[in-house]
Amino acid sequence: MRLLVLLLLLLLFFSPIFAVDFLYNSFSGVANLTLINDARIDNSVIRMTNNSNQFSFGRAFYPTKIRMKPSSNSTNILSFSTSFVFSILPEISTSPGFGLAFVLSNTTSPPGAFASQYFGLFTNATIPTVYPLLAVEFDTGQNLFNDPDDNHIGIDLNNIESKKTKSAGYYNSTGGFVPVRMRNGQNVRAWIEFNGTNLEINVTVAPIGVSRPIRPTLTYRDPAIANYVSAEMYVGFSASKTNWLEAQRVLAWSLSDTGIARDINTTNLPVFEPESSSSSLSAGAIAGIVIACFVFVVICASGYFLWWRHKKLKEEEDEIEEWELEYWPHRFSYEELNLATGEFCKDHLLGSGGFGRVYKGNLPNNTEIAVKCVSRDSKQGLREFMAEISSMGRLQHKNLVQMRGWCRKGNELMLVYDYMPNGSLNKWIFDQPKQPLDWEHRRRILTDVAEGLNYLHNGWDQVVIHRDIKSSNILLDSDMRGRLGDFGLAKLYQHGEILNTTRVVGTLGYLAPELATVAAPTSASDVYSFGAVLLEVACGRKPIETSAPEEEVVLIDWVRELYAEGKAIEAADPRIKGEYNVGEMEIVLKLGLACCHPDPLRRPTMKEVIALLVGEEVAAAPSELLSELARGDSDVVLGGGGDEDLGEAVPLQTVARVRSK
Ligand SMILES: *[C@@H]1O[C@H](CO)[C@@H](O)[C@H](O)[C@H]1NC(C)=O
Ligand SMILES: *[C@@H]1O[C@H](CO)[C@@H](O)[C@H](O)[C@H]1NC(C)=O
Ligand SMILES: *[C@@H]1O[C@H](CO)[C@@H](O)[C@H](O)[C@H]1NC(C)=O
Ligand SMILES: *[C@@H]1O[C@H](CO)[C@@H](O)[C@H](O)[C@H]1NC(C)=O
Ligand SMILES: *[C@@H]1O[C@H](CO)[C@@H](O)[C@H](O)[C@H]1NC(C)=O
Ligand SMILES: *[C@@H]1O[C@H](CO)[C@@H](O)[C@H](O)[C@H]1NC(C)=O
Ligand SMILES: *[C@@H]1O[C@H](CO)[C@@H](O)[C@H](O)[C@H]1NC(C)=O
Ligand SMILES: *[C@@H]1O[C@H](CO)[C@@H](O)[C@H](O)[C@H]1NC(C)=O
Ligand SMILES: *[C@@H]1O[C@H](CO)[C@@H](O)[C@H](O)[C@H]1NC(C)=O
Repeated sequence: MRLLVLLLLLLLFFSPIFAVDFLYNSFSGVANLTLINDARIDNSVIRMTNNSNQFSFGRAFYPTKIRMKPSSNSTNILSFSTSFVFSILPEISTSPGFGLAFVLSNTTSPPGAFASQYFGLFTNATIPTVYPLLAVEFDTGQNLFNDPDDNHIGIDLNNIESKKTKSAGYYNSTGGFVPVRMRNGQNVRAWIEFNGTNLEINVTVAPIGVSRPIRPTLTYRDPAIANYVSAEMYVGFSASKTNWLEAQRVLAWSLSDTGIARDINTTNLPVFEPESSSSSLSAGAIAGIVIACFVFVVICASGYFLWWRHKKLKEEEDEIEEWELEYWPHRFSYEELNLATGEFCKDHLLGSGGFGRVYKGNLPNNTEIAVKCVSRDSKQGLREFMAEISSMGRLQHKNLVQMRGWCRKGNELMLVYDYMPNGSLNKWIFDQPKQPLDWEHRRRILTDVAEGLNYLHNGWDQVVIHRDIKSSNILLDSDMRGRLGDFGLAKLYQHGEILNTTRVVGTLGYLAPELATVAAPTSASDVYSFGAVLLEVACGRKPIETSAPEEEVVLIDWVRELYAEGKAIEAADPRIKGEYNVGEMEIVLKLGLACCHPDPLRRPTMKEVIALLVGEEVAAAPSELLSELARGDSDVVLGGGGDEDLGEAVPLQTVARVRSK
């Protein structure tokens, strides 16, 4: 009997070592949470992101890990129960949303997480990686990864692609499903039951004021959960945002790993709705409020009218700012472009790339145009960029896509170009073309582009660096001649950057290795990108092909290897075998490698490239490099023939790593 009492006492004494059972009805005075990056405690609630930062993420964790397995070896998984109240309030109700996630993770900084998206927890990779990280998302945005809508909950096993999703809502006492809007700021309570024995997660959500529904909103049961649980894990919340403002808050939180989480007292929680409504009020107070509201509305209406008149009057002069008139030959009116593109409707959408959407338009005189909409967060930097782009507009060459004019509306800039009926080069080479382009066309287009780029580098009083040469920026006109598009646009994005943060502008696979260390693009880095285009056109595949065998993933490395073994020709596009002259193909491949030389100083200039492409190498190739290259001297491409030079070559993967930081 005594022994039993002692045992009980011992149990009571020792069990709390692992047991976690807390209730934060507010976070005031809780100095103990582990707050990562932008998360902070603000007026006794957890605020996950920071509106002043364009890109922001934050995580808040309970300070110690909770035990999820009895011992590190064990295959048994423990259970827990948690409940919390959150509020998600976007500044603009129709803007893209982000939401927040309840997370169970082995670390407070999950490796590879994107800093501004996917709850600050995941990459955009949809290939599942087993790692102890499990999240329940309360998602207020619809992304491309199978999200059903912009207001749902989901179970994420270390992957942005949810294992199971369900629109936010709850089942009422008669079994009817009542939707719950999570992105209007209202306080929403969530309950999560995690049963480690069954490997089952139940999630329930309901607005404050609704008592806990019996049937959970979502039940997920999967033995695979075990792979995402480690012996001890941090538990907490994570959220992120990009340009759009969204306040994600956690107001109260309870958790227990020994029983049901304690009930949160919701009576005095703050409310963050855009407009709050009060409950029990006397008739007098209501009458007072009605009168006050009426007076308020009258004041607002007259205020608005005055403001509107002021704005209307100012609009004509304000619409076009003075400095805008200094630039550019032609400024389109927004109405003109709106009309030409059918109000920027979907049917006119040609594509959307890194710099914005492109629409096809028809001017009243039947000229076809392409309108590129470049969205900016602020007007800052726009003016400098205009100066830049207006000089770009004076660049004219048969191998450049001609810019016809521009238009600005608010922070949105619209650039008007000639329409290119045959689309971009990548569609003709590797994006599953119906009929891959023949060799004669390929060669001609490469020469065209080389001439366009040479004009940018040498044909103007200042050297213009393109910065983003790739096959999707090479457009084909009605005669199937190649033209370079998007020149100068990369600059726009750098002007907007904060000083001292250097971001590499360009596209992976085409970026010169030196840009990983010195982010100052030069004409030599353009030559590198052009080299990548030469190789992809000759080989008929993308510069980085993740599905290829390992040694072939990075096109440049693969061709370089084949070249070293004296069989570069094996890299040529098999679909056009027999069409090409082997000598010509070899020159293009070699030239591609020379352009991609790791040392920028040893790359040929665009003048030299053209000379070689049009076959004037003997007459017009002044440099030692080219004449050696024309003789097929392998030392040139590999750099002096020594192993040291080979060792210097920076593989593209290095660039990828540097860039994703
Ligand atoms: C903070 O956490 C530590 C360890 O988890 C605990 O010992 C301490 O009492 C906590 N302090 C507060 C103020 O909750
Ligand atoms: C948000 O971030 C800015 C800049 O990074 C910082 O100055 C500011 O203090 C932060 N705001 C809050 C409330 O933490
Ligand atoms: C884990 O398992 C290994 C062998 O399987 C054993 O040697 C070790 O003592 C175990 N550790 C614990 C904490 O159970
Ligand atoms: C979990 O984190 C611990 C250190 O905090 C580490 O030793 C362990 O390897 C991690 N587990 C996994 C599966 O990554
Ligand atoms: C993932 O992100 C990278 C870089 O941000 C981007 O290049 C890539 O296209 C994205 N992949 C998908 C599937 O969205
Ligand atoms: C439950 O929800 C359904 C449909 O959403 C509704 O028709 C029904 O009246 C609700 N029942 C109760 C008891 O609220
Ligand atoms: C988990 O489920 C099992 C089987 O239904 C049940 O026996 C056990 O009590 C549950 N555990 C918790 C903590 O609810
Ligand atoms: C989850 O919900 C189902 C259905 O209501 C229930 O049978 C199960 O016991 C619940 N599991 C947990 C862990 O609460
Ligand atoms: C909830 O808190 C309020 C005041 O903060 C208090 O009056 C009320 O009794 C509490 N309710 C419960 C169930 O504890």
